[in-house]
Amino acid sequence: MTGAFDIALDLTENTKIGEGKFREAYAIRDGLCAKVLKSTIVKSYPCGIKIKLPGRLYARAEYFVEDLNRTEMDNYRWLVENIAFEDRKYFGKIHVVIDSKRYGTVLIAERITNADGSTSRDLLHEQTIETEFWEGFDRISEIFMRYAIPHFGLGGGNLVVKKDAESVYPVLIDYKKIGARFFPLQPWIHLPFFAARKVARSMTKIRNEFKPEPISVTPALTDLSHG
Ligand SMILES: Nc1ncnc2c1ncn2[C@@H]1O[C@H](COP(=O)(O)OP(=O)(O)OP(=O)(O)O)[C@@H](O)[C@H]1O
Ligand SMILES: [Mg+2]
Repeated sequence: MTGAFDIALDLTENTKIGEGKFREAYAIRDGLCAKVLKSTIVKSYPCGIKIKLPGRLYARAEYFVEDLNRTEMDNYRWLVENIAFEDRKYFGKIHVVIDSKRYGTVLIAERITNADGSTSRDLLHEQTIETEFWEGFDRISEIFMRYAIPHFGLGGGNLVVKKDAESVYPVLIDYKKIGARFFPLQPWIHLPFFAARKVARSMTKIRNEFKPEPISVTPALTDLSHG
C-alpha cells in the first residue's frame, strides 16, 4: 500500500506523541499511531564526540536488519502467538507496515490511550504512577519468564502507563530488540536460562528507577527517649 496512504498521513509536530532513539511516533486517525524512522540520528561517543548519521545506516549497524519496522512487526507476531489471550492487553498491538514514498516504511500500531482519551505516557514522562501499575508490571515479568521471551529492549521509554476506567497497567509498545543475536560475544544468551536472567535484570532496573520506595516512618532516637 503506497501513495494513497501518504495523503492520509499527517505526521506533523502537532500530532507527534513521542520519540525514541530511532523513531518518531505520531497519532493518526482511528486510535492508531504511525512510527517512522528518523532521517538522521546523533550517535554519541565517549569524550563528548557526537556524529550525525542517516537513520537507516545507524539502525542497520545497531540492529543488523534492513528495516526496523518490519523486524518489529515480525517480533510482535511471534510474541503474541506465544502468550495467553488474557495477557495480550499488556502488549500494544501492531497492525501493519506500509511503504510510503514520503516516509519510508511506516508502522501502524494501536495508540495506547487513557480513559479520558489522552495518549498514555511512557514511564519517563508520566508523573503519577499508581501502585496498581506494578501488579501489571509483575505480570509482564512473569510472562517473560514463563515463555522465555528474550526481549532486550526493556526500559522506561518502552512501557506506557495505561489509565483505564477500571485499572492502571503497563503496556509494552516497542518490540524491536527481541532475540539473542544482539549479544554475539555472549553466546550463552541463546540459552533460555541466561536470556531470562538478563531480562529479569532489566525489569528490576526499571522497578528500581520508577517505583518509589514507601517512606518509612522510623522514629528518631531522640523521640523515643521522650516517649
Ligand atoms: N503505541 C503507542 N502508544 C502511545 N505512545 C507511544 C506508542 N508508541 C510509541 N509511543 C511513544 O513514542 C515514543 C517512541 O516510540 P518507540 O519506543 O517505538 O521509538 P524508538 O525510537 O523505536 O525507541 P528506542 O529509543 O527504545 O529505540 C515512546 O517512548 C512513547 O512515548
Ligand atoms: Mg522505544
